[in-house]
Amino acid sequence: MTPTAAPAADPYLLTPGPLTTAASTKAAMQRDWGSWDADFRAMTARLRAALLEIAGATDLNYDCVPLQGSGSYCVEAMLGSFVPRDGHALVLANGAYGKRIATTLRYLGRDHTVHDTGDYLPPRAADVERLLAANAAITHVVVVHCETSSGILNPVGEIAEVVARSGRRLLIDSMSAFGAVPLDMRTLPCEAFVSSANKCIEGVPGFGFVIAKKRALEAARGNSHSLALDLHDQWDVMNRTGQWRFTPPTHAVAAFLEALRLYAEQGGQPGRLARYTRNRDVMVAGMQTLGFEPLLTDVWRSPIIVTFFSPAHANFSFTRFYELMKEQGFIIYPGKLTNVESFRIGCIGALDEAVMRRVVAACATALRTMGVPDGAPEHASLDAREALAA
Ligand SMILES: Cc1ncc(COP(=O)(O)O)c(C=O)c1O
Repeated sequence: MTPTAAPAADPYLLTPGPLTTAASTKAAMQRDWGSWDADFRAMTARLRAALLEIAGATDLNYDCVPLQGSGSYCVEAMLGSFVPRDGHALVLANGAYGKRIATTLRYLGRDHTVHDTGDYLPPRAADVERLLAANAAITHVVVVHCETSSGILNPVGEIAEVVARSGRRLLIDSMSAFGAVPLDMRTLPCEAFVSSANKCIEGVPGFGFVIAKKRALEAARGNSHSLALDLHDQWDVMNRTGQWRFTPPTHAVAAFLEALRLYAEQGGQPGRLARYTRNRDVMVAGMQTLGFEPLLTDVWRSPIIVTFFSPAHANFSFTRFYELMKEQGFIIYPGKLTNVESFRIGCIGALDEAVMRRVVAACATALRTMGVPDGAPEHASLDAREALAA
């Protein structure tokens, strides 16, 4: 089903969250809620139950702990609560968010080892198995589901298998993937994963949530370095009182419940995956007709966000391109790769393939205005992609 379009005056956000939300999701924020009030407590309970259902975890021993703050706060809460002070995490990094996990662990003073496969390559099960066999100190493995900095979709299924087989615990940053890319605790068990309100469920920013085994939440007592980010305590208080420990993002919760209603109406996870996949395919095909080349081969390309190499032509400037796209009603995203010039276009949010066609037309207009004949990148950029395909 086509999502409700953004009001004409709002630009479309082709960014991986905050993203374009439906008009009714924005409208749900028009009322004020008392945080202590029974109505708001019921809203929190509904939100937790709905998220467990999406994760396929209703009948399993999992619970959902919402937490105030952006996604990084929830990642930090997950790491600080579940990796014990004498634990050791193996971080599978292939982009900025994997690197941020390692930085967070350093701040937390938790021992960790980084397995970095660079911007183009996913971590593979065989390598993880080898690393786990070589280091008995490792207690946890941390992986990013969709590495939003490049758009690569990491093979969490095969990684979960080897982690379970070797008796270690898996923590997943599924920030930009959960809700659209399948992540079902019945088939892909993990210790915990994290996501946030303003990604594939299409809510507004303000909180994230961790879905974790109850056993892990119980065992997390006393692990956290931080009161505000202590998931055990947040869980315990929420279960006993129905309340968030500190001021909740009431309007963001109300918006999220409306986003969840639309999510169910639009076919849940399969519906969302189908729409985002179509968004991606229409957009990538259109961009390729303009000469643009995506960073990743289609095996690893997520339906969340696509990285394109910047055009090689001397007249191309990302800043100018960005402004020209904005003038036409589209906010795009700069690249986040370490060694090549790139930019990104998100496929998620309340937008559909008709919008994506307009995005491609806007890119064509922007190129024309800049005097850039086509989007073809430098040959050297493509070499790395060929290496990935080999
Ligand atoms: C995979 C991933 N992890 C972590 C984050 C950090 O979330 P935030 O920017 O909300 O702190 C993001 C943000 O887009 C992300 O995509």
